[in-house]
This record gives sequence, C-alpha cells and structure tokens, in this order.
Amino acid sequence: RPRVLSGIQPTAGSFHLGNYLGAVRQWVALQETHDAFYMVVDLHAITVPQDPKELRANTRLAAAQLLAAGLDPERCTLFVQSHVPEHAQLGWVMNCLTGFGEASRMTQFKDKSAKQGAERTTVGLFTYPILQVADILLYQADAVPVGEDQRQHIELTRDLAERFNTRYAPTFTVPEPYIVKETARIYDLQDPTVKMSKSASSPKGLVNLLDDPKASAKKFKSAVTDTDTVIRYDAENKPGVSNLLTIYSTLTATSVAELEERYAGKGYGALKTDLAEVFVDWVTPFRARTEEYLDDPETLDSVLAKGAEKARTVAAETLATVYDRIGFVPAK
Ligand code: TYM
Repeated sequence: RPRVLSGIQPTAGSFHLGNYLGAVRQWVALQETHDAFYMVVDLHAITVPQDPKELRANTRLAAAQLLAAGLDPERCTLFVQSHVPEHAQLGWVMNCLTGFGEASRMTQFKDKSAKQGAERTTVGLFTYPILQVADILLYQADAVPVGEDQRQHIELTRDLAERFNTRYAPTFTVPEPYIVKETARIYDLQDPTVKMSKSASSPKGLVNLLDDPKASAKKFKSAVTDTDTVIRYDAENKPGVSNLLTIYSTLTATSVAELEERYAGKGYGALKTDLAEVFVDWVTPFRARTEEYLDDPETLDSVLAKGAEKARTVAAETLATVYDRIGFVPAK
C-alpha cells in the first residue's frame, strides 16, 4: 500500500469547514486505500504563543474531531506530533540542509510574520515549514493530502528530499502533494475571493464545525453572492455561488452539474436555505460524536498512545538511517 501522511494544527479549537473539505475528508477516504499516518501538530502550534491549558485541551479536541470525522484507529495511525521525538530530531537535520534565502521565500511565513511584526515573530515560525518537511520525510510518505495553501511546503519537502538523496545516498521517498482540485480552496462566505481561515476570515465568513449549527446556518443564508440570479458554477465571475456549490456538492455527493440543473430558475435564496439545512444535518452528528470522544479521555489518550507507538517505529528507522548517512557515530 502506498503511504500518506498529513497533519493539522490544534491551535484553533474547532476545525473550520475549509479544514474538513480541503483535507480531513480526504484523510478519511485515503485510510481505505493507503497506509495512512495522521497527526495533530502541537510542535507547530507553539510557533505562536499558546496557553498551556488551552493547548492541551485543543490537542485532545483536535484528535476527537478527527475521529468524529471518520478516522478509524484500526485503519490508520493517529498520533500527536510531540509524542514522536524524531520529528524535532529530523527537523534539526533539515534545518541544516535548508538555505536561509530558501526558507525566506515561504509565503505563509511572509504573510504571518508581516502581520505579527518582526519582534513578535519567532525563529520557530521561520523554520515551521522545515519541521513540516521532517514530518513528511520521516514516514517516507508517497503523498500528502492537504489544501492548496500547503503546496509550497510540499514543494520544499521534495527539494530537500532530493538534496539529501543526492548529497548522501537515496534515503527519502520524494512525496507528491495530494490536492483535490474541487475542494483545494474553500472560500470565506463573506469574501469569496479569500480562503476561509481562522486568522483572516470575518466571523460571519468562517464556519466553525463546533459552533452552534443555528449560527452556522445563518452564515450560509447571508453568504455573499453576486447581483446576477443564475445558479451556475463559474469560479472567476461568480466566486460566491461557486463556493456554495462546491460545499453543497461535496457534503451531499451530488455533482455540481446536477445541482445546477436542480436549481435552474430558482433564486440564490433557495440554494442558501437548502445548503444551510444540508450543513446542519451533516454537522449535528459530527458534533455529537466529537462530544462522545471528549467525554472519554482515557480511551482517546490510549488511541493516541497506540498511534504514537506505531509512528515511532517507522520514524526511528528513518532517523537511524539518516544519522548513519550523515556520519554521526552510533550510540552504543
Ligand atoms: P492547518 O492546520 O492550517 O490546516 C489543516 C489542513 O486544512 C487545509 N485547509 C484548507 N483547505 C481548503 N480550503 C481552506 N480554506 C483551507 N484552510 C485550511 C490545509 O491546507 C491543511 O491541509 N502546516 C500544516 C500542518 C502540517 C502538515 C504537516 C500538513 C504540519 N505538518 C505535514 C501535511 C504534512 C497546517 O498548518 O495545516
């Protein structure tokens, strides 16, 4: 079986709809066909300040949401990044292989650090993508299921894998991004030209999965569309309607063409009201399942412990090879 690996930050508490449709949904599907490793990336989370209590709670909350979304610990390896020390260890090696200018070109870093100001930006945030490189290479992943915003980090991963392989000896699998075109970028409901995100979206444009479903339904009903009335997928000229069609289509496994036909001659109001209902029907059991996993922290922690054990076996093997290739003296 080919292998996939991916990660999600625990920072935000609730996942948003972009996280789910852009990434987590694919994770669930891929566990059936791939040897799948998925993790909650708490080491990445501390690149910006975190309250310790909240970080701990949010890490468990992230794991609970992943299970609620359909990850099955019998079918995939689900773990917490800090439980596997090899991530930090290979991260260091990768830091030493990355050019300063190369790291400086990462657009997510440029955006985030510009927003925070240089004084508040940590070196950890700067090397964030390089830790992500280590995450992926440790598991010899063939593919990395992510949203479009992670593409540059996967490109960096490929570059560093090839660099190491050339400088020392073939060691790492060079991974492919696994980005589903239709859902690669889910947009803000209020400004359908920017991606939905915790940091950038207005509260009305951001759909958090764990929010009161009634509040989310309202957001769909007041989503920004356009002054035209035709319900047609046209990402360029009708980004708002197209975003709603993407979400609707994905949540109901109905093709966009079928939806266009169903809503021919109907107004935007009908589409929004129906989508609000579709979302509420989907999210209500998701929230209930998340609660159930949270109510049983012992089971949750033991799932994560088992996952970490499986992950460590793979990660340790890769790291040992890397240390040997670099020329480190083995610890006897
Ligand atoms: P994070 O936690 O920001 O996001 C998790 C996943 O959600 C996707 N995503 C979206 N997809 C479509 N539309 C959107 N509006 C949207 N917003 C977010 C992201 O692309 C991502 O796939 N750096 C990563 C975490 C990470 C990782 C890794 C990923 C750490 N190590 C190794 C893959 C492999 C991140 O911050 O994702």
